[in-house]
Amino acid sequence: MTTLHEPVNGSNVSVPGAPRVVHSDRRPEAGEPLRRLTWTDPVTGARGYLVVHTLVSGLATGGTRMRPGCTLSEVEDLARGMALKTAAFGLPVGGAKGGIDFDPKDPRALDVLSRFCRHMRPWLDAHWVTAEDLGVTQPHLDAVFARLGLGQSFHAAIRRSWNEQRTLARVQDGLHATTADDRLVADVIGGYGVAQACLGAARAWNWRTGATTVAVQGVGTMGGGTAWYLHEAGMKVVAIADAAGTLYRSGGLDIPALLDLRDDYAEIDRTRLPADVECLPRDAVIATDADILVPAAVSYAIRPGNVADIKAMVVVEAANAATTDEAEAMLTDRGIPVLPDFVVNAGSAAWAWWLLLGHVGADPADSFDRLRTEMQAKVALMVREWTTARARPRETAWAFAAANARALADEIITIP
Ligand SMILES: NC(=O)c1ccc[n+]([C@@H]2O[C@H](COP(=O)([O-])OP(=O)(O)OC[C@H]3O[C@@H](n4cnc5c(N)ncnc54)[C@H](O)[C@@H]3O)[C@@H](O)[C@H]2O)c1
Repeated sequence: MTTLHEPVNGSNVSVPGAPRVVHSDRRPEAGEPLRRLTWTDPVTGARGYLVVHTLVSGLATGGTRMRPGCTLSEVEDLARGMALKTAAFGLPVGGAKGGIDFDPKDPRALDVLSRFCRHMRPWLDAHWVTAEDLGVTQPHLDAVFARLGLGQSFHAAIRRSWNEQRTLARVQDGLHATTADDRLVADVIGGYGVAQACLGAARAWNWRTGATTVAVQGVGTMGGGTAWYLHEAGMKVVAIADAAGTLYRSGGLDIPALLDLRDDYAEIDRTRLPADVECLPRDAVIATDADILVPAAVSYAIRPGNVADIKAMVVVEAANAATTDEAEAMLTDRGIPVLPDFVVNAGSAAWAWWLLLGHVGADPADSFDRLRTEMQAKVALMVREWTTARARPRETAWAFAAANARALADEIITIP
């Protein structure tokens, strides 16, 4: 058994002085997935899917979602995305995703999830580490894993440890760790990573933090966390949007006060808005006159039809597939780079594996430091290649993800 070596380009590079990366115009994980499994629930007839895109050291990671209309091709795309995220961060684990075509609000939902996991048990037992996703919460998964006698959703990884009880206790300490203002690190680290991508971009272009403006679409886990940490860092978040509309203030919004007005669906109570906040139509956020645009709500938010409205100098994709391929090509022609989802929003996935691998522990400062360092190094590299060679950030990231995947191909994971 070998120990994990440090990941290559884009994970541990420091810029300047980083080795030159070769750009890739081909997605490194574009091939066929390793395994597609389909399942039909014998009780409700619901269809479920597991796609294992790649196995690295015999493991793959990716959440399980439940939504009416979930399809095999959606799960396949998400599994491919997970493989890219783990490769971009040099993690010794492949990508997978589970999905069930069923309404998570249906009272039978937990039983459906339970039967799905029972059917997929050989994978959950030995290879697949799953987590919460759309329509499936971590408490749901914990209940199902307890029913199956598998302990917890990290089971396939933790069973490789020399001392499973000790590893589980260590990982759970990390998962329950809170920030100084009493928020779970697990809930905020994804948004923190996106904020670090924005701060890294500003730093790479020598923009003054206090003079840099941002617009964020979505104020849920990702968008809310991003806006919070950017505001805390001193950037001016001038626009935020939720499903009900865009809120704007040219001098910068009071983000903590607005986030306090959110309901359970991450929508802001309009009846309690400060008087100086302007209410604009929902899609106005895309056209905001701001330096950085962060789509953090829905897929395909940036499409050919609205590219011409964009005034930002960089797009930082917090949402999965926030920009269509055609829209990204048009933005590139306009000189606007897009920092890709599989790097920018991978903070929480990378962090969970750092916990498992013992790279970070229960002290939140270690987790935030590591994510800041890794994210800013990757962003600095992507910005440098954009600035010097007009390489799309996505192509640079494909290249370092592919290099990491090659280096990790024969890795055998060590869970301490
Ligand atoms: N939560 C995570 O850990 C995580 C990790 C990686 C990627 N993502 C991706 O980030 C995106 C957002 O996820 P989340 O967990 O923050 O979701 P969420 O449900 O917590 O929040 C979604 C937010 O978007 C707003 N919204 C919905 N439709 C909108 C629209 N058309 N215009 C403007 N705002 C709209 C909602 O009102 C809400 O504020 C998704 O693409 C998700 O797949 C999430």
